[in-house]
Amino acid sequence: MATAVSSKPQLVAPFEEAAFSRDINRADDPKPDHPSLLVEKAPYFTSKHGVAYLGDSLELLKSLPSNSVNLVVTSPPYALHFKKAYGNEHKDHYVEWFLPFAKEIQRVLTDDGSFVLNIGGSYNQGTPTRSIYHFKLLIALVEEIGFHLAQECFWYNPAKMPVPAEWVTVRRIRVRDSVEYVWWLSKSPHPKASNLNVLKEYSEDMIRLNRNGVRGTVRPSGHVIRSSFDTISAGGSIPPNVTEADFDVPESMLKMGNNAANDIYTKRCKENGIKIHPARFPALLPKFFTKLLTDPNDLVLDPFAGSLTAGAVAESLSRRWIAGEAVEEYLRAGIFRFEESMQNPLLF
Ligand SMILES: C[S@@+](CC[C@H](N)C(=O)[O-])C[C@H]1O[C@@H](n2cnc3c(N)ncnc32)[C@H](O)[C@@H]1O
Repeated sequence: MATAVSSKPQLVAPFEEAAFSRDINRADDPKPDHPSLLVEKAPYFTSKHGVAYLGDSLELLKSLPSNSVNLVVTSPPYALHFKKAYGNEHKDHYVEWFLPFAKEIQRVLTDDGSFVLNIGGSYNQGTPTRSIYHFKLLIALVEEIGFHLAQECFWYNPAKMPVPAEWVTVRRIRVRDSVEYVWWLSKSPHPKASNLNVLKEYSEDMIRLNRNGVRGTVRPSGHVIRSSFDTISAGGSIPPNVTEADFDVPESMLKMGNNAANDIYTKRCKENGIKIHPARFPALLPKFFTKLLTDPNDLVLDPFAGSLTAGAVAESLSRRWIAGEAVEEYLRAGIFRFEESMQNPLLF
């Protein structure tokens, strides 16, 4: 079995003391179910609840036991025309590239586990038309790998740039993109999930309706509104399509920017002259799905971990976690997040 967890974060590669010497995330009492014990490979970093590995995540996935992971929440490199520093697959062979990962993800998931995949769209080169590679991927994940589509969700990112400039700001043909797709897939048709874990606060209107009461009626659409409609005893309302940063308006459309310029991760990267990951997702995205789809001590995996956003969220929610990332610089900086999640769990 794997390397034992020591009492301090484990770093297998050299790093600057000044940047990383704070004594955070001590795994003083590693439990026998610590996720580093599932993998026969030296970890890059361990925390109380989780472990990060440097290298190709296809190998990491292959080394994990079947039926061991409750949730995979991840954002792989998209098939972008203008590539990021870490490299992006071309859309023509994106599905072919991704399916070996997907096959392993399906194998490692528990039968009631979920696979939440954040993926962005892309333009076709030279024209103001969109690629459909992410739809092709969704179809392949369902029809070739055997996933079930539990729900198609969206991340509304108002901070996205107005690109491609030629079609948006120069020729003024297309409007600005501000949505990314979040495919919630599951291994079986009935994944473990509870929207009670992501209830939002009742709106003023809902509270007023409850106070004043509502008469049963039939809407023009045919929907029957019963007089019990105004009951607010459930502790919050079921998330709708838009999630605000504080979960006030949840469900399928997650509204949040990923340009948090003042979080500890960004600040510490700047202080230490370390490159900020160019394509992070906001902590609230994995937080929403981790709360919706897992219980404390469940295992969450992010095989394209970048700056360890999903791992830090899992840590703050007392879920076990495993992260895989190919670029060392991203992992090193990601450790800053653990100062934040430990010191102020409410931020995550
Ligand atoms: C879109 S970014 C993920 C960002 C992350 N969600 C965050 O919030 O920081 C995708 C990441 O996948 C990594 N990556 C690409 N191919 C990989 C592979 N085969 N194994 C491990 N990581 C990989 C890239 O280096 C990049 O950091």
